[in-house]
Amino acid sequence: MPKPKVLITKRIYPEPIELLRPHCEVDYVNSDDGLPPEELVERARGCTAVVSQLTDRLRADVIERLDGVRVIANVAVGYDNIDVPAATARGILVTNTPDVLTETTADFAFALLMASARRVVEAHAFVHSGQWSRWLIDLLVGQDIHHRTLGVFGMGRIGQAFARRARGFAMKVLYADSVALAPEVESELAARRVSKEELLRESDFVSLHVPLMPETKHFIGAAELALMKPTAILLNTARGPVVDEAALVEALREKRIAGAGLDVFEEEPKVHPGLLELTNVTLAPHIASASVATRRRMSEMAVENALAVVQGQRPPNLLNPEAL
Ligand code: GLV
Repeated sequence: MPKPKVLITKRIYPEPIELLRPHCEVDYVNSDDGLPPEELVERARGCTAVVSQLTDRLRADVIERLDGVRVIANVAVGYDNIDVPAATARGILVTNTPDVLTETTADFAFALLMASARRVVEAHAFVHSGQWSRWLIDLLVGQDIHHRTLGVFGMGRIGQAFARRARGFAMKVLYADSVALAPEVESELAARRVSKEELLRESDFVSLHVPLMPETKHFIGAAELALMKPTAILLNTARGPVVDEAALVEALREKRIAGAGLDVFEEEPKVHPGLLELTNVTLAPHIASASVATRRRMSEMAVENALAVVQGQRPPNLLNPEAL
């Protein structure tokens, strides 16, 4: 009997691929460019599993042509790149890589908070370019972090891990989410659930941890930015389209808010040119989960999800059990 086939659409940490080889024929696209949709459809023909990345746009028109595919195993916790209902309709399972990146992503969100508040990137550029000639009382002064108010939108795994870090800085934590935390978790995090408006009005730092869905597209736009304090800093380690980037550029230009720390953008890898002209932003190329250990484990988890399906088992990180 021929071995089942697995397509890996783009370079991953390669060690886990060896887990597949005894059981599968592996078509590994060992490239950083990934596959254009047409080629992906072509190469997925006859494959049981596709190991995809967040750069693969697996919309309904692509999914409908994935003949014979039983599982799409995304190397990410977010899966807005995949039309899950379309996959479910075709009986294709979809998996992600949750949990492993929770703490790593929260670390980076906090790094962005600290870098933005204390102007770390500007300070580095200042010293590195030889501009430092004397100590001054107000040289590169920034904002305190300790004892300030943190607003967390989306109190899921990553939002909670982020809020837990804030406790070490004696911060007051507000959160907004459609679901309330259990009272014991709320008290462990010393977090208070408030409305979207109250969170925007009261917070010194507003951090986004909501998934991208139709309801969260441009969740932060001109109206929301207008409610924020002029001293507030916006942090986005969720997904770019959660923020209306043009509105954010306007607000930053006009100093209606003080700054932003952004790891994600509306049209990655493009960055709104307005953001590149500003000094009150800290920008990163979608690396919040990028520790070596976490990215290795994400590669491995996606492969494990694919392998489980190839072997007729339920994958550990199944998102659409109704497709079983
Ligand atoms: C990264 O953005 C992820 O969703 O894992």
